Amino acid sequence: MPDRPANDPPRLLPGFLLLVAAAVPVAYALEGNSHPVSLALAVLATFLATALWLGERRAMKVLLTWSAESLEGSAPVLAGAAGEVGARLERALRQREMQRHAEAEQLAQFLSAIEALPSGLLLIDADDGIQWLNPAAADHFGLDMARDLGHALTNLVRAPSFVMHLQASGGHNELVMPNPRGDATLSVLVRPYGGTMRLVLSQDITERERTDAMRRDFVANVSHEIRSPLTVLVGFVDSMAQLPLSAAERERALAVMRQQADRMQTLVTDLLALAQIEGAPRPSAEHWVDVESLMRRLQTDIVASDDSQHTVVVTSSGGGSLSGIESELFSAFWNLASNALRYTPAGGEVRVSWLLQLDGGGEFCVCDTGPGIAREHIPRLTERFYRVDTSRSRATGGTGLGLAIVKHVVQRHGGELLITSEVGKGSQFRIRLPARRVRPAPAPVQPAPAGTRP
Ligand SMILES: Nc1ncnc2c1ncn2[C@@H]1O[C@H](COP(=O)(O)OP(=O)(O)O)[C@@H](O)[C@H]1O
Ligand SMILES: [Mg+2]
Repeated sequence: MPDRPANDPPRLLPGFLLLVAAAVPVAYALEGNSHPVSLALAVLATFLATALWLGERRAMKVLLTWSAESLEGSAPVLAGAAGEVGARLERALRQREMQRHAEAEQLAQFLSAIEALPSGLLLIDADDGIQWLNPAAADHFGLDMARDLGHALTNLVRAPSFVMHLQASGGHNELVMPNPRGDATLSVLVRPYGGTMRLVLSQDITERERTDAMRRDFVANVSHEIRSPLTVLVGFVDSMAQLPLSAAERERALAVMRQQADRMQTLVTDLLALAQIEGAPRPSAEHWVDVESLMRRLQTDIVASDDSQHTVVVTSSGGGSLSGIESELFSAFWNLASNALRYTPAGGEVRVSWLLQLDGGGEFCVCDTGPGIAREHIPRLTERFYRVDTSRSRATGGTGLGLAIVKHVVQRHGGELLITSEVGKGSQFRIRLPARRVRPAPAPVQPAPAGTRP
């Protein structure tokens, strides 16, 4: 504690009083004016001043001891100026303690917010020593939050690209690297701060990379699908412009051009259908679609489109209604039926049925006696542009998007698509819809017994 200044009021006043009190009897004695009452009063004043001074000194001593030793708890209860100083000291201390407490709480909240960040955060010193890290950083780099503190990051994460990136810190480039476990992709940024320290920020971008790759694949597939018919079309346009074609050749060229244009149109229609389904809000549970009329429409379209002499059987047992979007449900049913017709050789059989289930749900099923699908293809059939036999699909006007559309529609309606198939025997595509989306047909009204009046 710093020395007390000489003119501090608590010590100056008793000292001054003592001096005055001592001076009075001395003055009396020197002047020989020794009236007994005055003398007694003077002695009493001296005594009182001395007592006051001694009391103040003792209090100050207690206060000094408290301040020098602990400053813990309350200040000692003292009279006079020392008591006042003690109380003020205690107040100041409490205030500072509360402030420190609030600051510590703020810091703890800040740290727990950083700890909860999905991004990884690592603080490293000039020697790459880890000073602090959050759980996400520990997870990204395979570090132990307690054990690895203080250790050099470059000894723990040794990927050369990462080590080089740390050394060249300060740039604004992100480093994309696999995590040490090899099951994720990380984006890493390094920023210098506080002179020699560096901040390492990491982010798991596995999902972003996956969707980027999917988008690139999708664009490449669409471009490829459009380029083939376009090349054929341009070729024929050039031939017709440059060569004198006979009427028969012209006829043939126009037929091919029509076919290629149709192919592009079907593709665009399917792409738009897919985009629309993906962007549309969830189908309402309030709008009910009559299954019987849906199945009748399906049968009409099947008959109109089937030119391969298949045996087609369409059955609907129980009827009822489905809640959802009619155009989407019809599109899903039609895609399955048209696949069966297109892939089943002439003379084969295609059965299309709707059946209410015991659990209250419903099942739409398309079974065919076509070529069947090998087991390894089945899980991938609903991927966009995935085809088992690309040339067969194209030759029959397929776009490779049909089952992707079906899967989306079914998922949006809370159902599932089940595919079973056996090579050489045929395939079954089933759409199961949950009970909450299915309503059985109302029971038929009993005819009134003969002879009774309504
Ligand atoms: N009933 C079926 N029988 C045999 N193969 C089928 C059947 N339905 C679909 N497939 C296979 O699944 C692939 C994907 O079907 P889909 O997504 O509808 O595209 P596509 O436009 O080619 O029909 C088809 O190319 C075909 O190889
Ligand atoms: Mg199809």
